[in-house]
Amino acid sequence: RDFEYAVAHNLEMIQVIDGADVTEHAFEKQDYLGVGCKLINSEEFTGLTVEDAKEAITKKLESLYNANIGYKFYVTSENMTFETNLRIINPKYTTRENKLRAQAASSFEALAADALKDGIKIYAASSYRSYSYQKNLYNYYVSIDGIEEADTYSARPGFSEHQTGLAVDIANINKILIEENDKEFTWLKNNAHKYGFILRYQKSTEKITGYIYEPWHYRYVGTELASYIYSNNITYDEYIARNK
Ligand code: DAL
Ligand code: ZN
Repeated sequence: RDFEYAVAHNLEMIQVIDGADVTEHAFEKQDYLGVGCKLINSEEFTGLTVEDAKEAITKKLESLYNANIGYKFYVTSENMTFETNLRIINPKYTTRENKLRAQAASSFEALAADALKDGIKIYAASSYRSYSYQKNLYNYYVSIDGIEEADTYSARPGFSEHQTGLAVDIANINKILIEENDKEFTWLKNNAHKYGFILRYQKSTEKITGYIYEPWHYRYVGTELASYIYSNNITYDEYIARNK
């Protein structure tokens, strides 16, 4: 038996539909109510009644979509090293020395150069961070705000995307982290995907990403995936969950 499911960004709506003809309709509904929609081919749910299967699918979706909540840090681990192939970003486009993996660094430079042609000045403020750097940063935040609050905006050491050398916090013309009302934000929102970058922690997606809205934090995922995520208006977490 096949099932279709639709999930709203905030998980307030999870709808599971079963039926023989869902295949035909599933993909047409991608944009239905602005929610994601996917067909499940359900060997895993064989033998269950329709009601039980719906319950099981809903549970599974909740766990997938909240993958980052309970233990939201699924990207890196303490023992991994991401130092391979890092290089310094052209200082013209940074507030201080900043590194990314080579491909991401080149893409960031191309992005910053093209922004400049449009009169938009952006800078990499914080990009690659080592485990020990993140440890100090996280501990500093905990000392100010406590663990519970720090966890809403800072990754723990070993679990920050910054450790992968693919994430970059971007500053505006004043070398201050970009905010939503900045013209730099609008430019990036419309163009970053062309260079392979996505806005990683979007507005009202805390329950999905595990972190508060960060208008300045971009992640390099390559142009193909960045364009897909941009045009489908989803988070990276949802992309991962749907394509697991
Ligand atoms: N601020 C992001 C979540 C980090 O610490 O990686
Ligand atoms: Zn960041």
